Amino acid sequence: MPMAQVAPIGIFDSGIGGLSVLQHIHQHLPHEDLLYFADSAYAPYGDKSEAEISARSLAVTEFLLQSGVKALVVACNTATTAAIKAIRSAYPDLPVIGIEPGLKPAASQSQSKIVGVLATKATLLSARLLTLQQQISAASGVRFELQACVGLVDQIEKGELRSAQTALLMRRYISPLIKQGADTLVLGCTHYPFVRPLIEEIVGELTAQPVAVIDTGAAVSRQLVKILTENKLLRTSPRAGQVNAFTSGSQSALTTAFANLLQLHPPVSTVRTIGQPAGIS
Ligand code: DGL
Repeated sequence: MPMAQVAPIGIFDSGIGGLSVLQHIHQHLPHEDLLYFADSAYAPYGDKSEAEISARSLAVTEFLLQSGVKALVVACNTATTAAIKAIRSAYPDLPVIGIEPGLKPAASQSQSKIVGVLATKATLLSARLLTLQQQISAASGVRFELQACVGLVDQIEKGELRSAQTALLMRRYISPLIKQGADTLVLGCTHYPFVRPLIEEIVGELTAQPVAVIDTGAAVSRQLVKILTENKLLRTSPRAGQVNAFTSGSQSALTTAFANLLQLHPPVSTVRTIGQPAGIS
């Protein structure tokens, strides 16, 4: 088997959010080895500037490339909007798959033509999202109501998926969207699928109408298969894929997140020396 086919796939996020994408990839491609990087020492990315997010994303990409990955999944909407162009131009030969809020699938299924988009501040302020939103609105007549969920990533990083504080935040963010008539909510951050049960519960308290929730994790996994196939990089060996994880933050926190959220128990190592920490607040 050529070397690149047996190489692992790199996946990164600002923290544990990308585990919601890794879960789809691991189920979809069970023979692939996966290297996950949680940049938890710098989470959340959503409150940082585009330059800071881009610098961290490039540093993490370089680390994963040094670790031998054959492809990269940017399992973070915020890093995709801020840095995917820079990653692609720095590493033109590396297959790179990003994740973006599912505005298109949401628009095609909304009956009320009002879609709520839950994401980080940085994602919602990005030029990339603005362009996407304008194009889809013009083509579909859908109105997007954007809601930055400040503080939510911190709650999820702490493992507070159902605490009173998390529920309070979620209610504050979802309630105006439902009041404005949204019948579809886009989870525009990879952390949010982990609070999807809470979101659905709160929506149920706010309206008797059905509200669809859109998550693009499975679509990213399908896109990854397509790109690996086109590049003849799919692993053909029948052995079970191994997962290995790295974090710039706490080893035990990432170990616990893997166990609690995915029931996986990969080896986790702490890596503190990548990038230029002096440039990041
Ligand atoms: N999980 C991330 C995303 O998809 C980012 C969260 C953050 O660090 O603010 O946007």
